Amino acid sequence: TTAMAQPASRFPFTPIAAQTDNTVHVPEGYSWKTLVRWGDPLFPDAADAWNPQTGVSVEMSDRVFGENTDGMELFNIDGREIIVINSEYTNREVNLPHATDGVPTGLDDVRILQNFQGVSVMEIAEGPDGWAVVVDSPYNRRIHHNTPMTFSGPAAGHDLLKTEADPTGMASLGTFNNCGSGRTPWGTYLTCEENFNGYFGANGDLPGGMVGDGFRRYGIGADGWGYDYHKWDARFDVAANPNEPHRAGYIVEIDPANPDSTPVKHTALGRFKHENAAYAIAADGRVAVYMGDDERGEFMYRWLSRDVYVPGGDTSTLLVEGELSVAVFEDDMTGRWVPLTPATTGMDAAHIAVFTRMAASRVGATTMDRPEWIAVHPNAAEAYCCLTNNSRRGALTDAGTVRTNAGGDPMTVNAVNPRETNNYGQIVRWRPMGGDHAAEGFTWDLYVMAGNPTVAEGPYAGTANINAGNLFNSPDGMVIDSTGLIWIQTDGDDSNEGDFAGMGNNQMLAGDPVTGRIERFLTGPNGCEVTGLCWSSDRRTMFVGIQHPGDNGGNWPDFGDSLARSAVIAVKRTDGGLVG
Ligand code: FEO
Ligand code: CA
Ligand code: CA
Ligand code: CA
Repeated sequence: TTAMAQPASRFPFTPIAAQTDNTVHVPEGYSWKTLVRWGDPLFPDAADAWNPQTGVSVEMSDRVFGENTDGMELFNIDGREIIVINSEYTNREVNLPHATDGVPTGLDDVRILQNFQGVSVMEIAEGPDGWAVVVDSPYNRRIHHNTPMTFSGPAAGHDLLKTEADPTGMASLGTFNNCGSGRTPWGTYLTCEENFNGYFGANGDLPGGMVGDGFRRYGIGADGWGYDYHKWDARFDVAANPNEPHRAGYIVEIDPANPDSTPVKHTALGRFKHENAAYAIAADGRVAVYMGDDERGEFMYRWLSRDVYVPGGDTSTLLVEGELSVAVFEDDMTGRWVPLTPATTGMDAAHIAVFTRMAASRVGATTMDRPEWIAVHPNAAEAYCCLTNNSRRGALTDAGTVRTNAGGDPMTVNAVNPRETNNYGQIVRWRPMGGDHAAEGFTWDLYVMAGNPTVAEGPYAGTANINAGNLFNSPDGMVIDSTGLIWIQTDGDDSNEGDFAGMGNNQMLAGDPVTGRIERFLTGPNGCEVTGLCWSSDRRTMFVGIQHPGDNGGNWPDFGDSLARSAVIAVKRTDGGLVG
């Protein structure tokens, strides 16, 4: 772990205190303003789509900014600012007020839920009143649970991806549970499919064999998570369509420059509960993409392209041909990337692509404390992953054996996941051997273990860079800016009580990678998580996502008698300077 000298601050802001109220706070000398809220129009015909009490109708549900904003990236295309933003999930109780507990009563109900999720592509521009969506821009686009997509890689066209409606195994509909984001050096957006399993259910018997084993490993069951798509939209009934879930759980590439382009699901990068996708260029020009699988005891992965990236050259193979590896962390603070190949796993390439978790279990990957966002340092050969928490780490079953992930791999305490019942989380940092992101080996340390020195001693107090002034839990979103500051967003317990006393609402902090010092920059409204971060091209505006702000009953940001609305905010310095 990092030793904590506290030299002169390199932080371009005065840290703020923890907050427990129902709005956003930023440091003195900064201001924030809403850029776009769930239900705001993306097209001129949706100008009046939003109703403060009832939300948006099914007819307008694919014409507005989606709900529960998450990962986002900004692209400057022909001098225009195009922002691409994930909508991870939807609040059924809010959107279906006529339905008991938000359980759909028909296909229209299912469609409204399907349309509020996915991805929003939109042009934004800054005027005298701040940033706003350009509603008549030709770039604006909604991508949702029924948008046509295609596949690349070893599983494309394979029997495992074929369905009655798509005997080619190449024409899939929709992208699901779009959590973190990524981008490519060639200017495309990567949306990352996380908890896709929750949308499926069964109106009959579940399949057996390897498909059934996969359902158990990925958490696909008869009941789903309450979306009940399968009762009204047969595609989601896995008794009738057992291969449909094999068509979700991927990294999906979207070209924001071409609103008519077909998104591509890249099966070579593996199927799991993808958090985000962070690229690095290896010494020889190959493209590495680091990815976490956010579930208790699941793994961290690295994609390495076969071919090198040449700016302006052919990029068509770079997420298609290459090698997927999984991380092994040793207790001596070294580690290595173990390739998932037919030779190492005994599985063929298509099965590795679809049943990636099972392939990774076969090579002895290290079970992790829920890998969330990974960030690559732009100016140093190192990368970081938020391990958000793991309440079952080291815990014993009734039979007295250590708890496992769904594949039976034990979640024994180890050096990189060092705490039983880990409710605070930690951030692991690794440095590839020789400074080369293509290297097999790496060294690692813990950049921070979150904790609470005001209520605990020992490991639960956290590392030395945690103090009463910067308490937080459950690091999740993470981006390293061009100056090398690590921006850390949280999605944790915001009760401000007990183990979490003094932590306040979910928040965003900045960390210095050299000193380890961490300071609080922003706090969200009570009930929210803070997730998603990008900058305007001139870096004078930082865009930050506020997800599920109404979870504790608040109604940010409109207040009054309005529903709560997830939103992206624009943060600026009042002196107009660079942010971060
Ligand atoms: Fe959608 Fe793991 O956060
Ligand atoms: Ca997350
Ligand atoms: Ca989370
Ligand atoms: Ca979330």
